[in-house]
Amino acid sequence: MSARIDDVPPIAHLAELEASASLGLRLPDGRDALLVRVHGRVSAFENRCPHQGVPLEAEPDRFLEAGGELIQCAMHGALFLPEGGECVFGPCQGEQLREIPVSVDDSGRIHLASE
Ligand code: FES
Repeated sequence: MSARIDDVPPIAHLAELEASASLGLRLPDGRDALLVRVHGRVSAFENRCPHQGVPLEAEPDRFLEAGGELIQCAMHGALFLPEGGECVFGPCQGEQLREIPVSVDDSGRIHLASE
């Protein structure tokens, strides 16, 4: 039997994505992850660049390029779509960030979705 969404503690809240639109966090299973909110859509990925396996950010909670539309790796500038995580520019073009399914409830709490 799967747990009801109310039984699972949220990993973050939408309010945390108001100021910067991106957020780094550690999941309960120990994975480092990033959350982004682009055009109102929240998505989450493992914080690991497919190019060299390093964390993407140079500064805490900064995962989007200046335009706020694409996820950027600070190491060599690769750019990733916030929908699906495909690399569309840079040395890992065509590879993908590993997406983590999440859902947002009516109170703005962000939960891991059951995979
Ligand atoms: S490590 Fe991310 S672009 Fe090279």
